Amino acid sequence: MVVEPATEQFGAYVRDTHLANLSEVEFRQVLVWWYKYSVLVFPAQNLSRDEQLAFTRRFGRLERGLKRSRGAGAGFISNIDSQGNLLPESDIGRQFNIGNSVWHTDSSYKRVAAMASILSAKVVPSSGGHTEWADMRQGYDALSKSMKNWLHDKVAVHSYRFSHAWHRGLDILSDEELDDLPPVEHPIVKTHPHSMRKVLFVGRHSSHIVGEEFRSSRKLLRELTFDAAQPPRTCSHKWQEGDVAIWDNRCVLHRARAHPPNEGRSMVRTTVAGDDPTNEWAV
Ligand code: OGA
Ligand code: MN
Repeated sequence: MVVEPATEQFGAYVRDTHLANLSEVEFRQVLVWWYKYSVLVFPAQNLSRDEQLAFTRRFGRLERGLKRSRGAGAGFISNIDSQGNLLPESDIGRQFNIGNSVWHTDSSYKRVAAMASILSAKVVPSSGGHTEWADMRQGYDALSKSMKNWLHDKVAVHSYRFSHAWHRGLDILSDEELDDLPPVEHPIVKTHPHSMRKVLFVGRHSSHIVGEEFRSSRKLLRELTFDAAQPPRTCSHKWQEGDVAIWDNRCVLHRARAHPPNEGRSMVRTTVAGDDPTNEWAV
């Protein structure tokens, strides 16, 4: 097993290993690299759904999904059906996935945001379709001193209804499921529990800042996200079938990049719930 950093400060490839048969010693090494690089890509794993779930569980408890009927498990991020046929552009699942193209951290609209997300590529387009990540520790560090001072005690409201309304996120859930997702509050500056580094916790689910003017604070959150997610604080991966990636939602943002819309792209997503004593979103 060898690690190959993707940028100076975050993101790495882990080669010569097979995640389905990772020994405990190897897993502890993977954990160390995950803490260090925050995004790890494991090429050519070809995990089954059960193998991906088992690997995910090694990091913590699975996160419960949004639909009451489905519980926790592996979700598809896909524009094709089970036979491999392209879904129409009007398909609600396809519309829903458009939201992933905007910088975000998974489940920050939940009171307990996700710890880690794992994606594996099943079908990849001939070009594009990268996943891109942005390091929010460096994003915080790059802020001016006065902005750091101003933000240090600010709290943002994150809201599913706000961030998902424009791509049919309200149509995909029942009224009860939407009621499970009231607006929640997260500090804008968080401290990562392992590195103890300060992190800018923003992204598309953040709506406005508590106690500040609604429109201007919404605009500020957009600007903070945009400015932080710039090179050299970003890295991206061009997927090959079978690749697996894991990232730490507590300190990186991510987004999906465009690809030719007439080509299939199908990914399997599993999620590690945030580490929280209430286990509100854990299974
Ligand atoms: C996700 C996500 C990005 C992608 O799975 O949460 O945002 O590239 N995916 O598919
Ligand atoms: Mn996501």
